[in-house]
Amino acid sequence: MYSKITVRTCILTLYLIYTLTYLTYGGFSGPLKPMTFSIFEGEEKSNQIIFQFKSDAPNVKFQLSGETDDTFYIHPDGILYYSGILDREKKAVHKLQVEVLDAGGRRIEGPVPITIEIKDINDNRPIFLQKNYNGSVRQGSRPGKPFMYVNATDQDDPATPHAKLFYRIAVQLPKINNVMYFQINNQTGGISLTLEGSKELDPFKNAHYDLVVSVMDMGGQSENSFSDTGSVNIVVEENIWKAPGLVTIKENSTEPHPLPITQVQWNEPGAHYSLVEKEKLLRFPFSIDDNGTIYVTQPLDREEKESYVFYAAAKEDNGQLLAKPLEIHVEVEDINDNPPICPASETIFEVQENEKIGSNIGVFYAYDMDQNGTLNSFLQYKIVDQSPLFPSNDLFLIQPVDGIIQLAKTSLRKQDTPQYHLKVQVSDRAFTTICDVTINVIDINDQIPIFEKNDYGNLTIDENIAVGTTILTIQATDADEPFTGSSKILYTFTNEDFDGKLVIDTDPITNAGYVKINKPLDFEKMPVYNLIIKAENPEPLVQNVRYNESSYAKFILMVSDVNEAPVFSQALYQAQISENAEINTKLITINATDPEGEAISYSLSGDTRGWLRIDGVTGEIFTMRSLDRETEKYYQVKVIATEKGGSHLTSSVYFHLALLDVNDNPPRLVKDYTGLFFCYPLSKPGSLIIEATDDDQQPAWGPRFDFSLGNTKLQNDWEISKINGSHAKVSIKHTNFEEKVYEVSVKINDGGKPPLENTVSFPVTMCKCASDGWCYQEPDSFSGMPTVAMAVGTFLVTFLVIGECHFLDPDVIALSPRSSVGLELTPASICH
Ligand SMILES: *[C@@H]1O[C@H](CO)[C@@H](O)[C@H](O)[C@H]1NC(C)=O
Ligand SMILES: *[C@@H]1O[C@H](CO)[C@@H](O)[C@H](O)[C@H]1NC(C)=O
Ligand SMILES: *[C@@H]1O[C@H](CO)[C@@H](O)[C@H](O)[C@H]1NC(C)=O
Ligand SMILES: *[C@@H]1O[C@H](CO)[C@@H](O)[C@H](O)[C@H]1NC(C)=O
Ligand SMILES: *[C@@H]1O[C@H](CO)[C@@H](O)[C@H](O)[C@H]1NC(C)=O
Ligand SMILES: *[C@@H]1O[C@H](CO)[C@@H](O)[C@H](O)[C@H]1NC(C)=O
Ligand SMILES: *[C@@H]1O[C@H](CO)[C@@H](O)[C@H](O)[C@H]1NC(C)=O
Ligand SMILES: *[C@@H]1O[C@H](CO)[C@@H](O)[C@H](O)[C@H]1NC(C)=O
Ligand SMILES: *[C@@H]1O[C@H](CO)[C@@H](O)[C@H](O)[C@H]1NC(C)=O
Ligand SMILES: *[C@@H]1O[C@H](CO)[C@@H](O)[C@H](O)[C@H]1NC(C)=O
Repeated sequence: MYSKITVRTCILTLYLIYTLTYLTYGGFSGPLKPMTFSIFEGEEKSNQIIFQFKSDAPNVKFQLSGETDDTFYIHPDGILYYSGILDREKKAVHKLQVEVLDAGGRRIEGPVPITIEIKDINDNRPIFLQKNYNGSVRQGSRPGKPFMYVNATDQDDPATPHAKLFYRIAVQLPKINNVMYFQINNQTGGISLTLEGSKELDPFKNAHYDLVVSVMDMGGQSENSFSDTGSVNIVVEENIWKAPGLVTIKENSTEPHPLPITQVQWNEPGAHYSLVEKEKLLRFPFSIDDNGTIYVTQPLDREEKESYVFYAAAKEDNGQLLAKPLEIHVEVEDINDNPPICPASETIFEVQENEKIGSNIGVFYAYDMDQNGTLNSFLQYKIVDQSPLFPSNDLFLIQPVDGIIQLAKTSLRKQDTPQYHLKVQVSDRAFTTICDVTINVIDINDQIPIFEKNDYGNLTIDENIAVGTTILTIQATDADEPFTGSSKILYTFTNEDFDGKLVIDTDPITNAGYVKINKPLDFEKMPVYNLIIKAENPEPLVQNVRYNESSYAKFILMVSDVNEAPVFSQALYQAQISENAEINTKLITINATDPEGEAISYSLSGDTRGWLRIDGVTGEIFTMRSLDRETEKYYQVKVIATEKGGSHLTSSVYFHLALLDVNDNPPRLVKDYTGLFFCYPLSKPGSLIIEATDDDQQPAWGPRFDFSLGNTKLQNDWEISKINGSHAKVSIKHTNFEEKVYEVSVKINDGGKPPLENTVSFPVTMCKCASDGWCYQEPDSFSGMPTVAMAVGTFLVTFLVIGECHFLDPDVIALSPRSSVGLELTPASICH
């Protein structure tokens, strides 16, 4: 032991000589004061220097005490060092004291506290507290809610990632269709169901699952993580959180409430139960207790509500639902607790006085609030009283089940007894109700309506009388009982051949009849109406009584003529004609007639272009000038018809003339193509696009122009190709053009009937462009320039556009007619 220390001291001395200078300059030395040092744990070290303390006094000696653990030492010169293994997990902090002694061994400085903190390195692997875990889960448990935990520990410093654990499920057995039923919280180790697990786990299909779980330190994020695995056996248990079946409760129960009716139960104890209404009710007569027992809190009434649906919910302490609430169905069972109810305070029937025995008078219905189709609402009828008892008792009978009331003994006479009162007993076997029934004996229809007079004479009315006017009041009387179908009178015309121009309304109280105009009269169509009116009852007459002449009346309606304006044979006249129709072509004949037969003369109004004339006598319309569809596609004028004699009344009607197109316009370019140019000298062939148009009506599928060069000389330099019906491409065939203006002429044919052709031309300039793609050359330096003044303006625009793509390809220019000034170019289309 002694020799070992000596050797160590020797080596240390050498070491010190070597390092002292370094320490002095490196800052790892200083006067004695309280200090804290942090040192990584780990491998065995020998004589690892921590610090050198210095003292100003001469001949001093440093001394160390405290938790040195045979590891920390101080050299008398003040060098603090350690030898051996530091293990944070064994001891994380060492508290030491250092003091300075003089030669005599007396303390002259300190003791001063020195703290050594051992810093962690990841030198411990996580270990599951158990190698095997057993757990169980209920079918249908909420996804994400842990039903068990696995737990591992790591000895490393929990404040460092060395002890930050990361859990995962490595394997699930069995695993069907690669679906994970379980998940683990990567930090807490809590195992729960996945959404699929919550839906699909079924103890009757498979009740056992094995998981291999792994845990890693360094948060699972490092290649150097340590890991451990454990196995978890899980038993799937049946879900007892199930809706109970239909609950039936007898209504109007006399038992003490609340009354338990059913129960729900969560899979584990400790759930908080509550009921949730499905529909909003005025009162909700149910409750649930901590054990999941559901109660009805008061007697129910089936007649108020015959069934209830609500939910029972189970919640965690924090109020979160543990699972989907269960639907509870309650049906209220009927008891016979409602008496029969009369249909009205008094039910009235009528019977004719000559009714035969056994005939039906009516059906009496009472009803019962108790459940339909059960004995509780099955009613039986019986007549228990009749008043008066004249001419005898039991004049009526009622069928016990159907409620049909019949005449039982003899025919009735209104003169003797106009009214009977019956008491009908209705019973449902528990309750009995008495209802009042009145039977009125009514007169029979044995009197016919009789007119006060049979001839209402002649009546003259203007044909233009307003619809709805009453023109005559008639009257018949009926001696039957008033305000019955036997005395009410309906008036009808027996001759129906006048188109419903007249109607007759009956006053319900006086039976007076009002003859009214129902449709406009027309003297010219029907000047005289010979009318015969019949008076009838809605009820049939009794046998042996018939309507006779006294029920009929006649009257003559004479319509007097009123002068009316002429009437056209049509509400609107239309014709169509080619725009190139010859002058004096007949278009149409207008026909108007005067109801009074006066002669008619015709004239036109609104013929703004003076295109038409009308024959005043025949109504024929002719063209008077040449027409032009491009001016008016639809031409509208008014035709006026005037009575020649009489009061010269007039009427007017529209005449529409549609003009059909004729190919009478030659094709042309859509615009003036000016200021077109290519940079000279040309580097490669280019092209430009022109568009043609035509003022004639174009077919729906668009124009069909054909393009060709205007003369054969051009063919050496130019080429034209049709793009489609309206557009053509003009290309240069080579690059050997001179620096001048070329006039390009193009022939356009519209392919119409007959085809029209037009030759158009436009200038194209070969211009020496500057290096920036702009052409500064004076336009008038060109020979053959058509309009010098104009060209200046156009060139400016053109140059701008060319400048845009000069360095890409200045030779290809696309022209579009859309721009009113000159060219509208898109770089993509120019610089292909
Ligand atoms: C888990 O259950 C098995 C039997 O299923 C049993 O042998 C084992 O001891 C249980 N383990 C624990 C940790 O309870
Ligand atoms: C895991 O085990 C440690 C040590 O026994 C304990 O402190 C901790 O609470 C446990 N964690 C869980 C989630 O059970
Ligand atoms: C750990 O779980 C959380 C949610 O619990 C998740 O957001 C995170 O991505 C998981 N970490 C890794 C590395 O899977
Ligand atoms: C719940 O059940 C327990 C055990 O059956 C019983 O002791 C307790 O009284 C019940 N609680 C209620 C509110 O009924
Ligand atoms: C309950 O029954 C009694 C007789 O059985 C009846 O008088 C009472 O009206 C009933 N109550 C309801 C609410 O139906
Ligand atoms: C009971 O039955 C009658 C006739 O069959 C019907 O008119 C009535 O609406 C029913 N009442 C109920 C509540 O179903
Ligand atoms: C009614 O007119 C007819 C002919 O239209 C005539 O014979 C008769 O005398 C006229 N009667 C009266 C009352 O004017
Ligand atoms: C029509 O019959 C009634 C009695 O029903 C009678 O008073 C009247 O005179 C009869 N009229 C004619 C024209 O026969
Ligand atoms: C005009 O119309 C009337 C009746 O609508 C007809 O009788 C007459 O013959 C027509 N005249 C011509 C010229 O068509
Ligand atoms: C004809 O071609 C031109 C140029 O390609 C194009 O802009 C136009 O839409 C085309 N017209 C039809 C009707 O296709």
